[in-house]
Amino acid sequence: MNNILEQITDIVSKGFEAAGYDGSYGKVGISNRPDLCEFQCNGAMALAKQYHKAPIAIAQDIAAKLLDDNAFSTVDAVAPGFLNIKLSDDFLSKYLNGMESEDKFGVPMPESKKIIVDYGGPNVAKPLHVGHLRAAIIGESVKRICRYLGNDVIGDVHLGDWGLQMGLIITELRTRKPDLPYFDEGFTGEYPTEPPFTLSELEEIYPCASAKSKDDEQYKEAALTATRKLQSGDRGYRAIWKHIMDVSIPDLKRNYENLSVEFDWWKGESSVDDLIPGMVEDMKKQGFAYESEGALVVDVAQESDTKEIPPCMILKSDGAALYTTTDLATLRDRRSEFDPDQVIYVVDKRQEMHFIQVFRCAKKTGIVKPDTKLDFLGFGTMNGKDGKPFKTREGGVMRLETLISDIREAMYNKIIENHETDPEEARATSNIVALAAIKYGDLSNQATKDYVFDTDKFISFEGNTGPYILYTMVRIKSILSKYGNDIPKHIGFAQNELERALMLQLTGFSQVVLSAYEEIAPHKICSYIYDVCNAFNRFYHETRILAEEDKARQEGWIALLSLTLRVLETCIDLLGFSAPEKM
Ligand code: ARG
Repeated sequence: MNNILEQITDIVSKGFEAAGYDGSYGKVGISNRPDLCEFQCNGAMALAKQYHKAPIAIAQDIAAKLLDDNAFSTVDAVAPGFLNIKLSDDFLSKYLNGMESEDKFGVPMPESKKIIVDYGGPNVAKPLHVGHLRAAIIGESVKRICRYLGNDVIGDVHLGDWGLQMGLIITELRTRKPDLPYFDEGFTGEYPTEPPFTLSELEEIYPCASAKSKDDEQYKEAALTATRKLQSGDRGYRAIWKHIMDVSIPDLKRNYENLSVEFDWWKGESSVDDLIPGMVEDMKKQGFAYESEGALVVDVAQESDTKEIPPCMILKSDGAALYTTTDLATLRDRRSEFDPDQVIYVVDKRQEMHFIQVFRCAKKTGIVKPDTKLDFLGFGTMNGKDGKPFKTREGGVMRLETLISDIREAMYNKIIENHETDPEEARATSNIVALAAIKYGDLSNQATKDYVFDTDKFISFEGNTGPYILYTMVRIKSILSKYGNDIPKHIGFAQNELERALMLQLTGFSQVVLSAYEEIAPHKICSYIYDVCNAFNRFYHETRILAEEDKARQEGWIALLSLTLRVLETCIDLLGFSAPEKM
């Protein structure tokens, strides 16, 4: 089913032609003066020159033709040459009944692509902290939106599991327990299956090692050497690496599960280690990579650049791989494993330069096909109320787990305060609502912008918040369940302006979902559902739905409510959360 703007544009274009004008000027948009009309077309203005005629006269000619069409109740030609349009009841109700009956509300499916969404990007051995929240939330929503539109989509966590942090942990472990067999060069037996640390020990080891390396040159050198040794295949170090992975990954999975974030691939930087030598060889052979001050680099600057884009470094002077190297090898791996048409990276926007270099280098060296789309969705920082990056009250980095449990607790208290409920039920509900509060609080902002994480605002049941959306949905659910099991499906004509406003809001679904997909912009879905919820609540407050005695009228309303709920459910699922039954 064509979206509503396309359908109306089609009719208006025919009106242009019927009046003797070029039909390609009939493009219709949503009115920017909703007090005057619902839709508008500005095409007559653009035609004035071509037809040597005043735009208002052209608009009048077209309006006269369009009034014959039963899609519209009014078409006004307004100075200097606007066409102001209001839909007929018949057209509006038909469109909504089309949404009601068609799969996915009739969204026209774009051409199906193979897409990889690279998000998450946690570094193993470091607990997830609030800095990882945005990647997880935005990436999950982007993945779901791509999938909804019929694409074949893989979500890859792309673990940071191969860099210096591994060398740091190994070095610290060696300092603490030098007698472990992993450090015995002559050891040829089987290494223990039990890891030499617990998760909480591991979480303490990393920051300790990282701090030491900052003011101890020798320690840092040792960590770099350990990293290199690990990467070049030292048996004992690989065994420690495996322990780190085995201890960290279940914890990461648990954390992501709490956020309803799920990855198809748990690959990481380490997964492509064995692809690096071949890739580097190819780059040299093809003449792309050359030596510069000992390092191996590929030029990626372009003439049109307005700022300097330094060469992409492939190997350091000591031969070690870098972040760029693993990302390039990962693209190679992805091509052979899945052959994607598009790869979307959801990563902190401060990494923009890295991705410019990686993308250009991948294209130039043929690691990706010329038409593979590489997108960087760089997100802004999550700040505290003071406008500075979000911290604990003590000024430290807040663990993601702590943040989630704090919001759950705050939500629980709010729910218990609001009305008497069974504590266990209140717990379950508050976990669901807390997730919506966090995710909506993030996603309702344009991803590239910084935003302030304001707990009190996010958990509020009023305003542009996740709990407000859920509260509205629960309200609809409650009306529907009181109405009974047999939910009518036919949406009739609007009975009043508030009902009409809700109907018009709902018609925007296709456009919104498609533009959220094309522009990689989940926030568009947030503002759509906020508008839908506002329109619903205004209608609800003025309408006694369950007490209505005119059955036909009531059935139309119930059908409209049921469609509203389904649309909202679909949208919040695309955002990555769900609604409780009660709250
Ligand atoms: N681990 C990286 C970091 O913490 C993020 C990884 C993002 N994905 C990628 N393909 N580079 O900065």
